[in-house]
Amino acid sequence: MTPIGIMSAMHEELAAVLQALPDEQRVQVAGRDFWQGHWHGRPVVAVLSRIGKVAAATTATALIERFGVGQIVFTGVAGGLGSGVKVGDVVLARSLVQHDMDASPLFPRHEVPLYGRSRFDTDPGLSDALQRASQEVLVDVAPHVGFEAIAEFGLQSPRLHEGLIASGDRFVSTTAECRSLQQTLPEALAVEMEGAAVAQVCADYGVPFAALRTISDRADDDAHADFSRFIRQVASRYSVAMLSQWLKT
Ligand code: ADE
Repeated sequence: MTPIGIMSAMHEELAAVLQALPDEQRVQVAGRDFWQGHWHGRPVVAVLSRIGKVAAATTATALIERFGVGQIVFTGVAGGLGSGVKVGDVVLARSLVQHDMDASPLFPRHEVPLYGRSRFDTDPGLSDALQRASQEVLVDVAPHVGFEAIAEFGLQSPRLHEGLIASGDRFVSTTAECRSLQQTLPEALAVEMEGAAVAQVCADYGVPFAALRTISDRADDDAHADFSRFIRQVASRYSVAMLSQWLKT
């Protein structure tokens, strides 16, 4: 069976994924720890993506070239951009764009030179399967995150959104930058720092790709990098529950 690549953006999430693997073995490539194991009997390779587009692209390339993964699923957190995309919601990418790609006037803004496009789609079948798994988890998150986290983070009826995710090498943490992104990419639901790069690598290799992101902040003046508690208590639990639900079906 071809292994499934699971990329996590944060240590806390990878740690939660590794707890679900009974038999993981560490292999080091390119200074990264890749964890080979099984989840619900399916071969997986779990790895920390590292932060930013280049680091994530290297990680994805190693997953494909060295570990022969047949598909890649990315889980992590993101800042909410779309109206109604609130902290604790989940965004399933149907396509991704690099919001900081700008080779104009040689190429239109956001277009990746020589690809003739700015957006990279995720795999429809893989994304549909993750959508079903995510919906099941979001119907009642209490068994996964507990009532304390629901109260602490004000998680009210978390929703699944599907559409465009924007990626770039910036942690967006000012309302001004958030507004400017909302203006240049009005359909973008969320912003993060890796997804579009991994989508491009997967397109190059013809490897199906999907991305699920839990909203940790609204990418505005209130967004700050110290969200490890949210990741531990909420995002990593969502990710593990959704991936587990998907892998067992
Ligand atoms: N990941 C989580 N929140 C983010 C933000 N506001 N900007 C970029 N990446 C993020």
